[in-house]
Amino acid sequence: MKILLFGKNGQIGWELQRSLAPLGELVALSTNSRELCGDFTRLDDIAQTVRAIAPDVIVNAAAHTAVDKAESEPERVRTINALAPAILARESQRLGAWLVHYSTDYVFDGSGNKPWLETDPTGPLSVYGSTKLEGEAAILDSGCHHLIFRTSWVFAARGGNFAKTMLRLARERERLTVIDDQIGAPTGAELLADVTTHAIRTALQRQGVNEVSGLYHLVAAGETSWYGYAHFVLDFARQAGVELKVTPENILPIPASAFPLPAQRPGNSRLDTGKLQCTFDLNLPLWQTGVARMLTEILENQS
Ligand SMILES: NC(=O)c1ccc[n+]([C@@H]2O[C@H](COP(=O)([O-])OP(=O)(O)OC[C@H]3O[C@@H](n4cnc5c(N)ncnc54)[C@H](OP(=O)(O)O)[C@@H]3O)[C@@H](O)[C@H]2O)c1
Repeated sequence: MKILLFGKNGQIGWELQRSLAPLGELVALSTNSRELCGDFTRLDDIAQTVRAIAPDVIVNAAAHTAVDKAESEPERVRTINALAPAILARESQRLGAWLVHYSTDYVFDGSGNKPWLETDPTGPLSVYGSTKLEGEAAILDSGCHHLIFRTSWVFAARGGNFAKTMLRLARERERLTVIDDQIGAPTGAELLADVTTHAIRTALQRQGVNEVSGLYHLVAAGETSWYGYAHFVLDFARQAGVELKVTPENILPIPASAFPLPAQRPGNSRLDTGKLQCTFDLNLPLWQTGVARMLTEILENQS
């Protein structure tokens, strides 16, 4: 079996290189790939790449994920997040291949306090959210076999992330303010990659009978705010013996309105994962499990 992976150096892409390798022959591309094009701004070349490899499965971990920057370059974002996935969907349909794609809680307007179902109405608040929604729609409309996973608050030990920023600020400052009215589930790139691989295996086994093609919500179990997330990170670090300038009483909750950014974020980012757990017979771990594991890796590397 041949698998073609786009966005190999991103948080999820990096973990997919590990988890997908045992499934078959893996061709993994980035924007810097030379012989084959992995750059989503070159749409014709992307189609050529797919035709040259003729994969059984395409996994798209590439996206324009700079949510605030996206507001000032909507055409480029739309090309990467919507038009390129549409090309992948068209080519998958032509080949009879599976297309695996990631989307986001940002397709919702963030109202209410119930976990969103896959069938709930969408209402993106940002360029990033609306282009990701357009990408989903193009895949759904194409008729190709697909697995679309909407996730949220992705973290990985590699590269920059919210936990590392909190650790740095907590060493430098006596007081921290963190948003407490956006609620979601921090979800590890490792978990996303492992579930993806399991889902691909299931999809191939069940092709033709009990088809699993569809859109799924995929996040760790439980929920928190950015404030709760920060507290967890700093409590963990303190217990691991890290010296922090800030004391727990001086980590203060603030509303998102006190910290205006170019892109508006959803307040309610809870995603209901019942459909995924039932279809793929999976149990999703609590968000704290993955964050604790990532923190252990980060802190070991720092000591
Ligand atoms: N991060 C989150 O919190 C979050 C939340 C919900 C959903 N998601 C979704 O999850 C998926 C993966 O996100 P992530 O967090 O792993 O992203 P990430 O770490 O920001 O990585 C994004 C990847 O996209 C690639 N990319 C950017 N511009 C590109 C272009 N023009 N052509 C081809 N590739 C391009 C980057 O490649 P280079 O390194 O080569 O530039 C990078 O490998 C995306 O679909 C994203 O929308 C993410």
